[in-house]
This record gives sequence, structure tokens and C-alpha cells, in this order.
Amino acid sequence: MDDLNLFRKQDSKTSCIVVNSELSKNMANIVFEKSGVTAPWTGTEESILELGEIHDLDLDYGCRMGNCTACQQPIVSGEVDYPNGHTGEPDEGNALLCCCQPKGDVDVVINA
Ligand code: FES
Repeated sequence: MDDLNLFRKQDSKTSCIVVNSELSKNMANIVFEKSGVTAPWTGTEESILELGEIHDLDLDYGCRMGNCTACQQPIVSGEVDYPNGHTGEPDEGNALLCCCQPKGDVDVVINA
């Protein structure tokens, strides 16, 4: 989390793509298993949902604020964090893609 915050701070002051690339080497990949897409988490995305959309995936969503649970998808492996919290509760084994981020640098595999 500290690395992510550091990156955001640096990114707001500079537009250094090299910094982004260097940090990506130590960050998780997000594997959208059904879609056959593996996308590197760069730390600039708000959520895994946003990362999927950047890679042209058509993922379900509703409120985009962690309330409605419309964006929930099963997590096959890896862990996620909710840096801004959420009020909706996903089903057991699922994550709210609109407001979650990978926890640490372990890849997150999603059945989506
Ligand atoms: S879109 Fe509503 S909880 Fe994610």
C-alpha cells in the first residue's frame, strides 16, 4: 500500500512512464479467466473493474461505489483490498470489482 501511495504521489507531480513501468514489475497481474485476458495492475487504476474496462472487457456493474453488489465476481485465487471500503456484501468467495484492488503483489485470478 505504501508503494502504491508513493507511486500516486510521484505520478501527480510528474508524467514519468518509466516509473510506472518499473513499479509494474513488482505488482500483481489480474487474470480475467473466462475472458482470457491477463492485465498488469499498474497502481493508477481506481479498481479492478476499471482495469478490465481499460482492456475492453464488458463487465457487469451498477453503482460503482461498493453498494449494489452488481459487479461481484468469483475470486479463484489471490486477495483483494477495499481501500475506500464498501457497504454492499459480496457472496462468499466473490469480490466487488468496482471498488477492489489487488492485495500486495500476488496475482488475482477472477472467474470473469
Ligand atoms: S457496481 Fe455496485 S457494488 Fe460494484
